[in-house]
Amino acid sequence: MSSTHFGFESVEEREKARRVRGVFDSVAPRYDLMNDLMSLGLHRAWKAYTVLVSGVRPGDRVLDIAGGTGDLALAFAKKVGATGQVVHTDINEAMLRTGRDRLLDAGVVLPTLVCDAEKLPFEAGSFDVVSVAFGLRNMTHKDVALAEMNRVLKPRGKLLVLEFSKVAQPLRRAYDWYSFKVLPQLGRLVAGDSGSYRYLAESIRMHPDQRELKAMMQKSGFGHVDYHNMTGGVVALHVGIKC
Ligand SMILES: C[S@@+](CC[C@H](N)C(=O)[O-])C[C@H]1O[C@@H](n2cnc3c(N)ncnc32)[C@H](O)[C@@H]1O
Repeated sequence: MSSTHFGFESVEEREKARRVRGVFDSVAPRYDLMNDLMSLGLHRAWKAYTVLVSGVRPGDRVLDIAGGTGDLALAFAKKVGATGQVVHTDINEAMLRTGRDRLLDAGVVLPTLVCDAEKLPFEAGSFDVVSVAFGLRNMTHKDVALAEMNRVLKPRGKLLVLEFSKVAQPLRRAYDWYSFKVLPQLGRLVAGDSGSYRYLAESIRMHPDQRELKAMMQKSGFGHVDYHNMTGGVVALHVGIKC
């Protein structure tokens, strides 16, 4: 079996999947609170911008991959209306359950499915829009997952990848201090788990930067790819068109 990385550690591929599952099993109950605290609420603006750029319209079919606690699925459900459909998926049952309960509390009933982004159980050409927010970084074979996302999109369909990226040079020192000193402590105090938040900081550093991800998406079949930096490159939204 080949090796890959889990944060800064080199591990076997199967071990990475097991450890990523452990991270999200552990953080699921406090995930939303931690997101608000860690980003000072900014993740809401990043996601709102993603929905705006998606151009999702009433009647569209949307697939949210690594959908977790359902922020994007909920926002898309409001856009597609009664004639469209949003499918909310994740590989992790604990995250998906938390999301499904939140959606039900908001009065929204969606198909909710446990599935691996690297083996999507949908026919080719099924969706107008596919989204993946803060999920791609955790996947073992990102190229395989991106090719699957391309396969399930309709021709001219749009992929939205919202992910942590490479911050602008002037922000780097402060961002490193915040990531490696503050985040794990916050994780320990709020979620009783510093290790998962150390993994978060490390996995961001190991993730392809804006240009590398753009090239990966082009290689996976997206004829047109653009990216939009947000908050000085802390996060980037990559938009790929299947053409
Ligand atoms: C940081 S959470 C993001 C949740 C949500 N999209 C958000 O933006 O708040 C990352 C999610 O990716 C999921 N994930 C990791 N590997 C995956 C895979 N191979 N296929 C599908 N989901 C995966 C995890 O289970 C987790 O719920």
